[in-house]
Amino acid sequence: MYKITKAEMLADKIFLMDVEAPRVAKNCEPGQFIIVKAGEKGERIPLTICDYDREAGTITIVFQTVGASTEKMASLKAGDYFDDFVGPLGLPSEFIHEDIEELKKKKILFVAGGVGTAPVYPQVKWMHEHGIDVDVIVGAKTKDMLILEEEMKAVAGNLYVTTDDGSYARKGMVTEVIKDLVNNQGKTYDVCVAIGPLIMMKFVALLTKELNIPTVVSLNPIMVDGTGMCGACRVTVGSEVKFACVDGPEFDGHLVNFDEAMKRQQTYKTAEGRAMLKAVE
Ligand code: FES
Repeated sequence: MYKITKAEMLADKIFLMDVEAPRVAKNCEPGQFIIVKAGEKGERIPLTICDYDREAGTITIVFQTVGASTEKMASLKAGDYFDDFVGPLGLPSEFIHEDIEELKKKKILFVAGGVGTAPVYPQVKWMHEHGIDVDVIVGAKTKDMLILEEEMKAVAGNLYVTTDDGSYARKGMVTEVIKDLVNNQGKTYDVCVAIGPLIMMKFVALLTKELNIPTVVSLNPIMVDGTGMCGACRVTVGSEVKFACVDGPEFDGHLVNFDEAMKRQQTYKTAEGRAMLKAVE
């Protein structure tokens, strides 16, 4: 059993929890994920690790309620327990294997969208801890949907916040901020890391391809069981078929077939929706 030591609502339908899982906290790296199960018969939910405290032995997860299983998770409070909390899974972000001095020479842009801000955070924090300043764009639909702004501000070299409706900071999509930074402010980037909804990653990748910026995306949103068994996260990357949970979750954004990935995600949503209806019946 894994104790929840903190539970709070960050925004409408978006929740943060700290969970006691010392072995996961000791071994995890940015980019990896865990699988959590609430209740004996609960569904397995894969979530990218948002933060970790090796000393306290805790893992921070952030999730959005999209169906019955995540609604059940959201109902848990500090002091409650998860039945299962397995990890760390997936491959860590490639950065952590690179030479720090080489990495310091690179200009890196992180683009986070919505709840995707959570998995971007540990990567930016890791960069900060290693003396690497990076630019970060965080996009949210509205001011109320914006999460982890203060936390990100503390670790980002430069932080650019944008909301789709202009209710906070600048107005517009993250792609408009990228265009502004590159075309108007003369910024150049050696690599871009984009994590957020598939549609956002698709358009960021299309733009960065045009701008010639190599781009990494995280396909966590299409995972279902996270074990390589269900096949839901199968995706075409270039000419190869990959499984996000085993071969990823990070891939070359210029090679991912996003349209195929989005079709799969729709199937998942339908299954979650059905489970939700069952739960309220
Ligand atoms: Fe099921 Fe990857 S999430 S195979």
